[in-house]
Amino acid sequence: MLNETTDIQNASSGDVLEGVSYPSARFSVAPMLDWTDRHCRYFHRILSKNALLYTEMVTTGAIIHGKGDFLAYNEEEHPLALQLGGSNPVDLAHCAKLAVERGYDEINLNVGCPSDRVQNGRFGACLMGEAELVAQCVAAMKEVVDVPVTVKTRIGIDDQDSYDFLVDFVRTVSEKGGCTDFTIHARKAWLSGLSPKENREIPPLDYPRVYQLKKTSHT
Ligand SMILES: Cc1cc2nc3c(=O)[nH]c(=O)nc-3n(C[C@H](O)[C@H](O)[C@H](O)COP(=O)(O)O)c2cc1C
Repeated sequence: MLNETTDIQNASSGDVLEGVSYPSARFSVAPMLDWTDRHCRYFHRILSKNALLYTEMVTTGAIIHGKGDFLAYNEEEHPLALQLGGSNPVDLAHCAKLAVERGYDEINLNVGCPSDRVQNGRFGACLMGEAELVAQCVAAMKEVVDVPVTVKTRIGIDDQDSYDFLVDFVRTVSEKGGCTDFTIHARKAWLSGLSPKENREIPPLDYPRVYQLKKTSHT
């Protein structure tokens, strides 16, 4: 599944991952929980030399308190972005730093997962309603790492699904948090009433809204 990316960043701004520049990194394989593990990503890398690969969402709790090594990957996977789930700026900064020490090329914050478990932890899609907090999270991570810190979000949540809501969210996270790259999942999420699987299929796709945002963000 390919990522629908709106690149708020000026394509010629020169941010470069090892061996791949950001413009070509627009071709990426989306983060997919229970799918894009290190084995799947290794396979994807055989299929494409340059695609930016995303991990599944890894929570800050798992990295900090978990028993396994949740940051393990194969060197061949580069360029590789770690998708983090969390909403505590201190924990996110700590995990981002650990990840960059391990060689990750980008840190991506998940603001799109709608599962109940994730909402109880106050992260994922429900953070769309807390743009100021997301900005603080991004700023905290940017403070301690020198790789791109990006955000993946939805076009809206529940009844907060207007274009203005999306623009306000992106503007706040961009202006206050310093985030220059957003990946927009072109479906809204219902935070209650739909399972995560249904939230991937039932809310209709709205690509024109993403294209509109992308167009606006370059002006
Ligand atoms: C099985 C599955 C797992 C997913 N897990 C994640 C995830 O961990 N993090 C995330 O940001 N998006 C996740 N997504 C969403 C995808 O990254 C992507 O945005 C979406 O599948 C695009 O498809 P659509 O345009 O048909 O909605 C997942 C999607 C699927 C199908």
